[in-house]
Amino acid sequence: MTIITSIHDLQCLFKRRLPKMFNDYVDSGSWTESTYRANQSDFQKIKFRQRVAVDMSKRSLSTTMIGQDVSMPVALAPTGLTGMFYADGEMLAAKAAEAMGVPFTLSTMSVCSIEDVASVTTKPFWFQLYMMKDRGFIENLIQRAKDANCSALMLTLDLQILGQRHKDLKNGLSVPPKMTASQIWNMAIKPAWCINMLTTKRHSFRNIEGHVKDAQNLSELSVWTQKQFDEKLSWDDIEWIKQKWGGPLILKGILDSEDAKLAVKSGADALVVSNHGGRQLDGARSSISVLPEILEAVDDQIEVHMDGGIRSGQDALKAVSIGAKGVYIGRSYLYGLGAMGQKGVMKSLEIIRNEMDISMAFCGEKNINNMTREHLYLKDSGLST
Ligand code: GLV
Repeated sequence: MTIITSIHDLQCLFKRRLPKMFNDYVDSGSWTESTYRANQSDFQKIKFRQRVAVDMSKRSLSTTMIGQDVSMPVALAPTGLTGMFYADGEMLAAKAAEAMGVPFTLSTMSVCSIEDVASVTTKPFWFQLYMMKDRGFIENLIQRAKDANCSALMLTLDLQILGQRHKDLKNGLSVPPKMTASQIWNMAIKPAWCINMLTTKRHSFRNIEGHVKDAQNLSELSVWTQKQFDEKLSWDDIEWIKQKWGGPLILKGILDSEDAKLAVKSGADALVVSNHGGRQLDGARSSISVLPEILEAVDDQIEVHMDGGIRSGQDALKAVSIGAKGVYIGRSYLYGLGAMGQKGVMKSLEIIRNEMDISMAFCGEKNINNMTREHLYLKDSGLST
């Protein structure tokens, strides 16, 4: 058995264990994938300042996100189809997050439902919402999140229409997978995945099945999204959601200072600087490169979080040092989940925690809350600071 020492190791195991269509779904950006790549490569341009002969004992990564205690400023991002990568994937990821003391965010487009996740967790998790045309259904989803004691609602603002990811279209990606000859072949050559998926009855979008017509059919994701998601979403709808929800609200998908100011005005508690992992507007800037500008526009009025391109604790530490109150990992934890289920998610969080902790120490700091831009060398980073 390989000794797993990095997120990349988990990615290799994920690749080996999962059928092609899910590998393609996870490891894709839209169109040319330039934004998808920039999310990661722009982190490499930021350097740390190494400090020596500083007391490094008794270090702490503990902090808060939207006023809630976290063992490190890292949350699990909402990701679609997660229960197709490993049986009951969202339930396992939520349990791992709970054990590690970090927030788990359940996607509207998850396989396991809000109730499924609530049934295996003891602490509140966060729920991510996509605005759909059927407002009655949205009200119902918000009520279900309240009933499940979710402690934050995250509204995604950058996916009213789906960015084109070539591979998903070529694969005819659907949940559950279509039984075409090539899909059957792609699954058959991954027996460990097949056997594991047979251990659960959860193979559909369980937040929406029974509520949204056609959701239980073998519909293609892109076609289905086109039919259900509300292209007309506006800041007025956000006010409506805020009223219905009445709890902590996080707005995800902010990539422009003007939108950041509107997010502040909307009364949200936090925003997430995000380009949806490079899966929506290809050619948009990387999340990390936009972060300083958004922080300036927000001027400490609400929390600023970010996601996109984080594949290590060092990436997370860089974003936090620049000023993000917390970051989200998507692919980095999905690799662990697909590779080894709950243990794999724990592993990915342990790897990130360890990398963050040691890097902070090398920068001469003991407390994550004291990390600032002063700990970084940004001169050649291209970031406007
Ligand atoms: C959904 O959120 C996706 O990016 O596929």
